[in-house]
Amino acid sequence: MSRKISEIKKSKSKKKLVCLTAYSRPISKILDNHCEIVLVGDSVATALYGMKNTREINLETMINHAISVKKSLKRSLMVFDMPHKTYRNIKEARKNIKKITRHVKCDAFKIESNGNNYKIIKNLVKSGVHVMGHIGYTPQFKKKFKVEGKKTDEEKKLIKDAKMIEKAGAFSIVLECVTKKTAYKITKSLKIPTIGIGSSNICDGQILVTDDVLGLSGFYPKFVKKYVNLGNIIDTAVRKFKKDVKDKKFPKNLNTY
Ligand code: KIV
Repeated sequence: MSRKISEIKKSKSKKKLVCLTAYSRPISKILDNHCEIVLVGDSVATALYGMKNTREINLETMINHAISVKKSLKRSLMVFDMPHKTYRNIKEARKNIKKITRHVKCDAFKIESNGNNYKIIKNLVKSGVHVMGHIGYTPQFKKKFKVEGKKTDEEKKLIKDAKMIEKAGAFSIVLECVTKKTAYKITKSLKIPTIGIGSSNICDGQILVTDDVLGLSGFYPKFVKKYVNLGNIIDTAVRKFKKDVKDKKFPKNLNTY
């Protein structure tokens, strides 16, 4: 097991894990100073490409973003989010991970649970691939947003899924939009860290989509905290540039050869 992975596993209940998404080199350069985990998320589909959902992004586009992210990641663990329909069976998952690895070396791969793909995780782990699980609201498999775990049978299923994913060998698991009570039960019953998104402060770590945190995505559900409004900052800068150009104040001599 790699040092980074064992450190992440050891951090369970000791220190909170800081995780964010990155799709490009400039952002991953900044995140690398702060995050234990950087995820090249399939959320690039909606955050960057304006696609209707994450199911629309393809593997080649994800690989290109991963290549860019990898350029400035030194410390953080880099996780590649396997896009929809790239891991429907063991053969497909292995073939696609091989393809990704030929282009870019990632530390681990995230696989959304469809409640039935433990064998794929188990097989990948057995072959030396580090896998991060993902349960709760899993956008690749659920068409409509819903907070998960409110009903007793839902909660039971989530706890069972989480345990099966741990048993299959995953080193961590994302809990997306799971109630605090269920997140608590899952977090307490696993040895691997839980990483929450919209799943309360009970989880061992937190992940958000960086574009949401920076105020660039226009997507601000209750579980997101916008730490800065970069959209406004960029708007101000562009306005100033526009004014300078119109007023013939840019470029000046010092900007000219
Ligand atoms: O793609 C993504 O950004 C994710 C996170 C929301 C966990 O899967």
